[in-house]
Amino acid sequence: MKIRSSEIVVSAINKSQYPSEGMPEIALVGRSNVGKSSIVNALLNRRNFARTSQTPGKTRTINFYLINKEFYFVDLPGYGYAKISKSEKDKWGVIMERYLEAREELCAIFLLVDIRHEPTADDKLMYEWIKHFGYDCTVIATKADKISRGQYQKHISIIRKKLQLEADEKIIPVSSSKKTGVEDLWEHIVAQYNS
Ligand code: GTP
Ligand code: MG
Repeated sequence: MKIRSSEIVVSAINKSQYPSEGMPEIALVGRSNVGKSSIVNALLNRRNFARTSQTPGKTRTINFYLINKEFYFVDLPGYGYAKISKSEKDKWGVIMERYLEAREELCAIFLLVDIRHEPTADDKLMYEWIKHFGYDCTVIATKADKISRGQYQKHISIIRKKLQLEADEKIIPVSSSKKTGVEDLWEHIVAQYNS
């Protein structure tokens, strides 16, 4: 995909702040620190466009990035960060549910999990939530540079089994830092659009 333009359009909390022109959206969800914002940067070949951080919980709003004035990547706040308060957790739930419950523009959700680890109970709940709301789910196994290529399949099977993915749901290994798998991910995005 040739990136002609990318711009952050809005950092939203409330529905009234979401973009309203009806362009398609692809959302990224996953644990805090799993690499959601980094994947946006890798896909766009930009260094610090979506803000990343070593401190989990960096992204606390819904960030809409408009690509080629055609579609949006939507970077959602992460979950599973132990050090946040109950009220912060509740706030996260409200923000997520408000966005996911009836977003017609939302054509696919990418659930990011760390390739090294078995998905957590929170990841599984997130996957079930995605299905409950009726969206397509693609799993991105992040930080693939942390294991050798020979180990990909083993880790991918563990992820597939734990989440109990449907047969046609893909797991795509990606390393944002080494830029591996980024082309595969773009191909998948483009294919999804054309179907
Ligand atoms: P929140 O906004 O807190 O939910 O986190 P996030 O999911 O957006 O994670 P972010 O992209 O900020 O990345 C978190 C940390 O993981 C940063 O220190 C990144 O440099 C690192 N990281 C992200 N992707 C990769 C990767 O592919 N490989 C390696 N080795 N590190 C990565
Ligand atoms: Mg982030």
